[in-house]
Amino acid sequence: MGKIIIAGNWKMHKTQAEALEFLTVLKSKLEDTDEAREVVLCVPFTVLSILSKSLHGGLVRLGAQNIHWEDQGAYTGEISGAMLTELSVDYVVIGHSERRQYFGETDETANLRVIAAQRHGLNPILCVGETKQQRDAGEAETVIINQLKRGLVDVDQSKLVIAYEPIWAIGTGDTCEASEANSIIRVIREQLSNKNVTIQYGGSVKPDNIDEIMDQSDIDGVLVGGASLDPVGFARIINYQ
Ligand code: 13P
Repeated sequence: MGKIIIAGNWKMHKTQAEALEFLTVLKSKLEDTDEAREVVLCVPFTVLSILSKSLHGGLVRLGAQNIHWEDQGAYTGEISGAMLTELSVDYVVIGHSERRQYFGETDETANLRVIAAQRHGLNPILCVGETKQQRDAGEAETVIINQLKRGLVDVDQSKLVIAYEPIWAIGTGDTCEASEANSIIRVIREQLSNKNVTIQYGGSVKPDNIDEIMDQSDIDGVLVGGASLDPVGFARIINYQ
């Protein structure tokens, strides 16, 4: 088992004003939250700065949604490790299926980004997961094992988070059965040399299924999309029973 990490992935949502409004409500709901639970908000680049000032010293950590593998250069639209660490960012989501599907991210580029994140002292959250077609063909485990093999070349497993996000469960309301997610996560753990890596589940996590998900033996946390946009609902997820 790894450290418990409950992360929200806002994707392309929220302006600065909306982010501050969210944070005010969220903070008011976390007064009794167990400090052993790490809470992370992976937000658009444009709200990192304002949130880093408001989060200072609190329970909530800041995450970004991308990082380039070079430290600087002619890479229009990309962001460097130093740009993130300057804003007190601690985590970065890498290889999300939406980056793979819409922006040509591969296991190889995800691997370069994971290495860059670690070089800058950031915690990479490497996402893996199968499509519905791959699942129906009985290939889920093979696909995930291959993503891990390629994504983790030369990666230090002492500073790493893995998120298992079955693509068919993302944004669909079609949650993977908690027990099924647990068994895939067990397979993921078998592939790792460090058995204490935090392995999260992601895909239609909601206030009404979080308790069952977190009750599983091998699931160390969640990466939440849509349900992390509402501060009351996200607080309920963080404060799972
Ligand atoms: P949903 O929670 O909206 O299904 O998104 C999951 C996800 O992609 C988190 O990274």
